[in-house]
Amino acid sequence: MASAGENRENAPLHVAIIMDGNGRWATRRGLPRIMGHKKGVERVREIVRAAPALGITALTLYAFSSENWRRPADEVSGLMGLLKSFLTRELDELCANGVRLAVIGETERLPADVREVLDAAITRTGGNRRLKLNLALSYGGRGEIVHAARRIAARCLNGEIAPEDIGEELFSAHLHTAGQPDPDLLIRTGGEQRLSNFLLWQLSYAELCFVPAPWPEFDAGELERAVADFRKRERRFGMTSEQIRNRTGASSAGS
Ligand code: FPP
Repeated sequence: MASAGENRENAPLHVAIIMDGNGRWATRRGLPRIMGHKKGVERVREIVRAAPALGITALTLYAFSSENWRRPADEVSGLMGLLKSFLTRELDELCANGVRLAVIGETERLPADVREVLDAAITRTGGNRRLKLNLALSYGGRGEIVHAARRIAARCLNGEIAPEDIGEELFSAHLHTAGQPDPDLLIRTGGEQRLSNFLLWQLSYAELCFVPAPWPEFDAGELERAVADFRKRERRFGMTSEQIRNRTGASSAGS
């Protein structure tokens, strides 16, 4: 969202989060993995509540990847159940907090009852403006890019567009995230340092923050620390520090 030289204290932020470490958190306690996901839902609630006060205007949560379908059937159905109950129980609070819900991913693969609850929540929160909450469900970055390429190829074949029209902007407009700004900051909890097929196109210029705490322990204080660290970073977008300083000086002198 913020562009070069605009990583100021109050610039609106889009934060994307890979909520990892639920299973390990539970296993370490001798609990079934689903208990880690259950605890993870509590952190989702806390982070969504805390986000706007930190200047976060968009939050994209990796809740279920296209690869997660390969997990044991009871874990998959447990996760679907948690998602459904979260959307049902939290809907009033999401509305009261000005949260607008959206979903990215191959939602047609989700069970019909989950899709129904999701659609209802998206419709009901459609007018809210304080925080855009994107849930990545049955989402995979490579699949999203291939899907976009297919749609663009089809439009070329039927003569709607020519290959020369294809640029970054047009390509972005064919992704699930069409019309949304790219994330400024990616947080991954749970100690691993990889992207796991998340927002491969959109994270090109995001700042990366890897946190050792597993998701069930990632509370509002952890989010605040990650955002404070992000605000200190200089985002250069391929330019030099000097260019960034001059731009910042020029924009604040002009505003
Ligand atoms: C990764 O941890 C986490 C997931 C695959 C699911 C995340 C889901 C939630 C936090 C709950 C549902 C979400 C919402 C929005 C209500 P892992 O199981 O891979 O952890 P591990 O690496 O320790 O095994």
